[in-house]
Amino acid sequence: MGTRIPVLIDIDIGMDRTGILPGAPVLELAQRIFGSDGLEFEGIMGYEGHILGVKPPEEKIRQCGEALDRLLECRDLLVGNGVSVGIVSAGGTGCYSITTAYQGITEVQAGGGIFMDAKYREQFSVDTLDFALTVLGTVTSRHPSHLVLDAGFKVMSAYHEPPRTLDRKDLTFRYLSSDCGVWEVAEGSVGSRVGDQIELIVGYSDSTMFLHRRLIGLREGVVEKVWKIVLPS
Ligand SMILES: Cc1ncc(COP(=O)(O)O)c(C=O)c1O
Repeated sequence: MGTRIPVLIDIDIGMDRTGILPGAPVLELAQRIFGSDGLEFEGIMGYEGHILGVKPPEEKIRQCGEALDRLLECRDLLVGNGVSVGIVSAGGTGCYSITTAYQGITEVQAGGGIFMDAKYREQFSVDTLDFALTVLGTVTSRHPSHLVLDAGFKVMSAYHEPPRTLDRKDLTFRYLSSDCGVWEVAEGSVGSRVGDQIELIVGYSDSTMFLHRRLIGLREGVVEKVWKIVLPS
């Protein structure tokens, strides 16, 4: 017997991006998978990415539930027709606290939350995860009203959401150019000297990671691990 590839059926639960429509098409596709030699049906997946930015929280929970119900109705349809569904997968960092608490979901597709970034915090209201990923910028010049760091958009993304400092409340983001970051200095600030290093929280971790070749893992200020970042060719 040859190799059988385990597969999930991706269902469009409202995002209008990928997946087949809920209902009859899901049952039909599952039956085709069962009829194939090389595939093993494992379950279903959806992604409620269209509700991540919904506010207030009660409305986000309601819309998330509405999307997940579409997925669970598909599970019920399959089970009702004798198809056993091992995996029901949904969610991501932007809604993980809602999705993981939802009865019937067996797996959550969260990824970027291991790093966290300003976009998850500001746009998707994720306030239960710490910022693990930072970029270290070095002060290269000082002006009366602002500082210039050597960290521009070649090393971190400001496309989805502006970066911010980890612990310098006196510095406000102004803009990034390719090799520089310009930060407004608050009046009365202790200031910084050329050569000082400032830890920066990136706007969006996904569009920052691929700009780098190595990730330095620190625990309590001590380098514990250096990971090589392998990029798709
Ligand atoms: C299918 C799918 N699931 C989950 C996610 C969420 O990923 P993350 O937790 O990195 O935001 C995404 C992001 O685009 C996705 O495409």
